[in-house]
Amino acid sequence: MLKWAGGHPLFAARARGAAIEDVDGHRYVDFALGDTGAMAGHSPQPVVDAVARRLGELGGATVMLPTEDATWVGEELSRRFGMQLWSFALSATDANRWALRLCRAITQRPYVLVFSHCYHGTVDETFVTLNGGGRPRSREGNVGPAVDPTVTTRVCEFNDLEAVERLLADEQVACVLTEPALTNIGIVPPENGFLDGLRVACDDTETLLIVDETHTLSAGPGGCTAAWSLQPDLVTLGKAIAGGLPIGAYGVSDDVAARIEALEEADLMDVGGVGGTLAGNALSLAAARATLGEVLTPAAFDRMTALCDRFVAGVRGALAEHDVPWSIVQLGARAELAFAPEPPRDGGASAALHDGELEDLLHLFLLNRGILLTPFHNMALMCPATTEEDVDRHTEVFSELLAALK
Ligand SMILES: Cc1ncc(COP(=O)(O)O)c(C=O)c1O
Repeated sequence: MLKWAGGHPLFAARARGAAIEDVDGHRYVDFALGDTGAMAGHSPQPVVDAVARRLGELGGATVMLPTEDATWVGEELSRRFGMQLWSFALSATDANRWALRLCRAITQRPYVLVFSHCYHGTVDETFVTLNGGGRPRSREGNVGPAVDPTVTTRVCEFNDLEAVERLLADEQVACVLTEPALTNIGIVPPENGFLDGLRVACDDTETLLIVDETHTLSAGPGGCTAAWSLQPDLVTLGKAIAGGLPIGAYGVSDDVAARIEALEEADLMDVGGVGGTLAGNALSLAAARATLGEVLTPAAFDRMTALCDRFVAGVRGALAEHDVPWSIVQLGARAELAFAPEPPRDGGASAALHDGELEDLLHLFLLNRGILLTPFHNMALMCPATTEEDVDRHTEVFSELLAALK
């Protein structure tokens, strides 16, 4: 909320579908969509009905008992992502934190490997970047870490397979945690062969691979895992899958599940460090069932991706018309503008493109003309309620901005 351009955030009064209204009565086309938490659109009717039924008619938001909705959602996530067993959290952050603990427990190895400028939530072990000299360091601004994260974590650049192989070689890394394409430092797509090579490097060293699909769910109903036939050992998720209600989820392969079962000393039921009182609560799971069953369906993803194609074509057309050397990268229903002619190949290169003033100008120019982009970056996301008119309005205003800049 502090990050919105313009000195203060708008105050939201109401939101429905792809639109937000502020307390002054201004209406905005929302391409930020709660930075993915509202990828299903704001208050989609099936979710409203399911939540009202669970909270009102049936009763019991939190009963500390599984519901049939949990079984349904677990099976649906298995169908989409191919992991056999699922467990729930209240945020993607927690899903990642618990997945890391489980990986360390079953491998009995101390380290985690992440890519420089990744973001997986406020997970201590992931707050490591490479400095200018290529040395690991605690991420700038890291607030009160209990231990220096370079003690727990190894780091290299995304798309650098040689470095991955080197850092896994001593078989001391429990797991690699990565998004299939980085999405939190612009979008950095994997180069040809990188994800296959990563899988092989993990297999060769018996390192587990966690794929975080929290944002890359935009690629389709089963995220990049399904779209690109990836073979992770664990998948983590959150944000959008309960239509805006708090949820996180992690799925594990049969093999990982068996190894977790075989842990003799780990307390997986009570206060061992995995799980939480409201995790798997009936309300989140009712919302997730409605979201996955009726809102973020395969047909909805087809529509959202086609709209994003149109969004990207509009931006490219405007850039060409005004002869501005920027680029835009698309990942299904999600697109991100980079202030460079070619999209960056790793997190460091993408971070170097950051231009705070230009970003603020872009966001504020659009906001003043009724369009919201994600404040953290130049990202636009389509939801099932986004329309062609919404997209075309963005193209028009973006073109106006380029003309004004020139
Ligand atoms: C890839 C990824 N994983 C996990 C998270 C954490 O999600 P949350 O803040 O909802 O816990 C984020 C948040 O931006 C994310 O981008």
